[in-house]
Amino acid sequence: MDRILVTGGAALEGSVTVPGAKNSVLKLMAASLLASGPTVLEGVPRILDVSIMAELLRRLGADVEHDAAARTCRVDVPEEVGHVADYELVRAMRASISVLGPLTARVGRADVAVPGGDAIGSRGLDLHVEGLRAMGAEVHVDHGYLVTQAPPGGLRGAEITLAFPSVGATENLLMAATLARGQTVLDNVAREPEIDDLVDLLVAMGARVQGRGGGRLVVDGVDALAPARHVVVPDRVVAGTWAYAAAITGGHVDVRGGRVEHLTMAVAKLEAAGARVEPVEGGFVVEGPARPRPVDVATLPYPGFPTDLQPFALALAAVADGSCVVTENLFEARFRFAHELERLGADLVVDGHHVLVRGRPGLSAAPVEASDIRAGAALVVAALRAEGTTEVHGVAHVDRGYEDVVASLRGLGADVRRETVTGTETFTALA
Ligand code: UD1
Repeated sequence: MDRILVTGGAALEGSVTVPGAKNSVLKLMAASLLASGPTVLEGVPRILDVSIMAELLRRLGADVEHDAAARTCRVDVPEEVGHVADYELVRAMRASISVLGPLTARVGRADVAVPGGDAIGSRGLDLHVEGLRAMGAEVHVDHGYLVTQAPPGGLRGAEITLAFPSVGATENLLMAATLARGQTVLDNVAREPEIDDLVDLLVAMGARVQGRGGGRLVVDGVDALAPARHVVVPDRVVAGTWAYAAAITGGHVDVRGGRVEHLTMAVAKLEAAGARVEPVEGGFVVEGPARPRPVDVATLPYPGFPTDLQPFALALAAVADGSCVVTENLFEARFRFAHELERLGADLVVDGHHVLVRGRPGLSAAPVEASDIRAGAALVVAALRAEGTTEVHGVAHVDRGYEDVVASLRGLGADVRRETVTGTETFTALA
């Protein structure tokens, strides 16, 4: 029941440090299932989703030590691994689906609850299923579970062309292919930096993967992998969040650990809006304009503009000096955020997967509700430019992907605090 209270007005000044990527560490933890013994990850972010994945791996039989202070996670995998990822955990975190490939390859069977539609639109699993079938697995849905069964003798290599460069399908099929018999060619794969990070861990575990960074991965299956040690790639979405926060407040922020080379399109858009972005040793610096210029943005698979930064682009457009169009090409319902932004006074029209935004000099505070991780963070960022005190509800979403966002913002000079809403207060509010 926590909420974040943001009083707008301050330009952010100072430095923040970017932890390891949520969208990488969860897959790296799943990949540890491919080998028995202890895989150790470093640079692990202190976020809720890591705890959920740790619990999922424990239920599969692994011994997981997540040392938040040291930012390490040690996943010790037994010889015999379970095969059930239950609904309770998959519902809490859709990325649980990334155990599907490793379990089918290593155990020969997986029973993974089918995630329902979530707040950012329906997300299919057809590419995961088609790929595993091409590798010889039988796949069916039974009582809400996706059940896979590898053929006797294990998965076999195959030539698979993805109809769309899905991040999750690329990761599941890549992990499955490392232990398949023979060669697997994966075409039209996702090229996100988190995929490269996964390839790096798999290669360190003894996998034979070629084509890192490209649209085609060639994997020669091996009989067994060995545990390894690996440092998680910095979170480009968190880095992008701080870059947009600097731009929207006309501030000056040093994003430690941020990598501009992973944010090429987002940086180009920020520069077009009038921000100055400069790579420095160990990070980059962003200096925001007094008032951003309007910039059209359309999300696309990497290296296109990331869908996870789309809500921030929308927030920036809301205070721009003119009109622009923001287009969402990946997730259909990601504009629930746009309607919350309207509550902060943004002038916009949603039409299908486009939003026409007419910028205003500033926004005005209101109570708003986060519908997903990025929407929650973007509401906090937008509120920095709103007159008065905005209450952001649904903060649990933000905790899933961001380390203490309130402490980071306070360190940058923002007037932000977190409050726990008691039962009585909720009741009073309802009455
Ligand atoms: C990952 C990220 C998420 C990011 C997204 C796109 C994690 C935990 N999440 O999600 O933050 O926004 O990449 O960069 O890493 N699709 C199908 N069939 C499939 C698979 C996907 O139709 O079998 C569709 C989905 O419905 C969606 C689109 O493809 O519209 C993108 O999905 P995908 O790239 O798989 O994203 P995720 O791996 O779910």
